[in-house]
Amino acid sequence: MVGHEIVEKQVLAPDVVSIRLRAPQIARVRKPGQFIILRISEGGERLPLTIADADPSAGTIRLIVQAVGKTTGQLASLEPGQAIRDVVGPLGRPTHLDSFGHAVCIGGGVGTAVVYPIAKALAELGNKVTAIIGGRTKDYVLLEQELSRFAQRVIPTTDDGSYGQKGFVTAALKDVLDSSPEPPVKAIYAVGPVPMMKAVSELTRPYGIYTVVSLNPIMVDGTGMCGGCRVTVDGQTRFACVDGPEFDGHLVDFDELTDRLTTYRQAEARAVQRYENHTCKLKDES
Ligand code: FAD
Ligand code: NAD
Ligand code: FES
Repeated sequence: MVGHEIVEKQVLAPDVVSIRLRAPQIARVRKPGQFIILRISEGGERLPLTIADADPSAGTIRLIVQAVGKTTGQLASLEPGQAIRDVVGPLGRPTHLDSFGHAVCIGGGVGTAVVYPIAKALAELGNKVTAIIGGRTKDYVLLEQELSRFAQRVIPTTDDGSYGQKGFVTAALKDVLDSSPEPPVKAIYAVGPVPMMKAVSELTRPYGIYTVVSLNPIMVDGTGMCGGCRVTVDGQTRFACVDGPEFDGHLVDFDELTDRLTTYRQAEARAVQRYENHTCKLKDES
């Protein structure tokens, strides 16, 4: 088989799947916070995805994918036995981990997949971990059981109140911080939609708590060559693929990131339309 075989697939939510694929060299060396860039087929779009987990003995990595457009939709439709053409990684800097005493890990929607390996590594270092995981509705609250294996507390939230605490993750975070927990919270890791990471960073700023966010600008090469992933942090241009993707949330220019993420919206919509209308000529001829 050419490429990386998909060995397992699980549907986690209506448009979110977990995929395990063979990538033994990456599985051996990857660290929490790192990502890969894959191409489903020769000439395909380069897709950055966080390594949610890895099993070095089985030689597999786990990816959690939300189908939001053409390439993620295509990837989510693949089944075990099929293969991904190429996978490059691990890319990016590993998460800065420490013995903080108590850390809060916040996942917004599929951002929970990114925060999951970080929470696990923090727990392995002996930290008390509180996880706050938000979703639009009950179906979109991800990895609750897996997190509860090592987090002392897991707080699910939903925007519509269909499960857990009603409201955004920021309301649950404020409750935790104001309850004077023991040991006190010394670090916060937040991953999810940009407005969420911005809101978490604004909330924690007056508390003076170290806050890490994982940025998801559009990426092309993933090796610091193209400049596509540039973000402004503390007034300086940084490349998320090689300087990040994690940065101090109190220093990130979130408005610029939001603006840059919408640059290709029309082209992306056209790509989805073309993909959905596409009929396979090989099939037609057979
Ligand atoms: P497109 O048609 O390209 O875009 C569809 C929609 O997604 C548009 O609204 C577009 O603005 C938005 N979008 C496009 N690129 C990005 C991007 N890089 N980040 C956020 N929104 C984007 N997604 C996951 O599901 N799981 C992950 O573990 C994951 N990890 C990531 C790690 C990094 C370092 C980065 C940079 C992104 C990560 N993403 C992850 C986001 C994922 O790469 C994008 O959703 C994907 O590139 C969209 O491609 P598409 O062709 O399916 O959609
Ligand atoms: P979503 O819009 O359903 O939001 C998920 C949760 O985030 C909500 O339930 C809420 O609790 C919180 N949230 C949203 N907006 C907020 C706000 N303004 N203030 C406070 N909290 C807010 O998310 P989704 O549709 O599951 O999408 C997940 C997002 O995660 C996507 O935008 C995707 O690009 C991003 N993502 C980021 C990375 C990364 O590396 N940073 C990786 C994967 C996905
Ligand atoms: Fe090209 Fe980061 S993706 S410089």
